[in-house]
Amino acid sequence: MSNPNPTDVKAEKKERYFEPAPQDIDVENFKKVIQSRRSVRKFTDKAIPVEVLDDCLDMALLAPNSSNLQPWTFVVVQNPAKKKQLVKACLGQLAARTAAELIVCIARTDRVDEMAKKNISEFPFPEAPAAVKKYYKFIPYNYMTGYLNAVGNFKKVAFKIARSLDKQLPVTAFNPADAKLWASKTTALACENMVLALRAHGFDSCMMEGFDEPMVRKLLKLNDQQFPVMVIAAGERAEDGVFFPQYRFDRDLFIQKV
Ligand SMILES: Cc1cc2nc3c(=O)[nH]c(=O)nc-3n(C[C@H](O)[C@H](O)[C@H](O)COP(=O)(O)O)c2cc1C
Repeated sequence: MSNPNPTDVKAEKKERYFEPAPQDIDVENFKKVIQSRRSVRKFTDKAIPVEVLDDCLDMALLAPNSSNLQPWTFVVVQNPAKKKQLVKACLGQLAARTAAELIVCIARTDRVDEMAKKNISEFPFPEAPAAVKKYYKFIPYNYMTGYLNAVGNFKKVAFKIARSLDKQLPVTAFNPADAKLWASKTTALACENMVLALRAHGFDSCMMEGFDEPMVRKLLKLNDQQFPVMVIAAGERAEDGVFFPQYRFDRDLFIQKV
């Protein structure tokens, strides 16, 4: 066979992975899941079946996340002594006291390097494309701040100079607070997936940030780059588990089209 002509080579190069979007999704049921999710403050004593809980945790892990770096951990606290302590840390809230499960959702900035390497080694093609490898060698620096904020400070100066030259740059972490925000933003998305998944399975939840952070840190032995973003109380909604109807303010207060 003769050598492929340049047009063929070009066509071959353009071949892309293609994943068709399913069209048979029932919007009404999807809406029902969203609209029936309420913050439930009282649960029955019904347990959540292991496979349901696992499915909800798996759905949490499918949330979109910054650069696929998956900077999160979900700790299901089931040890009775630890759970008792966690309820106390959650200020003894009724939702925590009655929950079948308590899940501490932790944003992490201590595994950026490790997760970047995994993105290369576990890329779902036989080998990660060169651009992917390049991206994951560079991206950890975007979210790292380094020892004594050395990387963060360097970026601050470099970004300022680059922007003065009309260069557009992405969100980055200039300090540990930025890095925490970066990881928390993504972790909250997984939390939402989890509570919607619980609802879809007929269970309910209450996201809680009303907890004593130092106590939770101590209980789970968290390091200073692991941030408990929220505790999710989960279980079956008690008849009187929702305290009042859901209400939101006028949508014009929140939605703008420019
Ligand atoms: C990040 C976050 C933290 C929350 N913390 C608590 C909490 O500690 N205790 C509680 O009873 N509800 C908590 N909530 C629930 C909110 O109060 C609730 O979502 C809001 O009032 C709207 O009600 P709805 O969830 O039923 O729509 C929290 C919600 C979020 C998103």
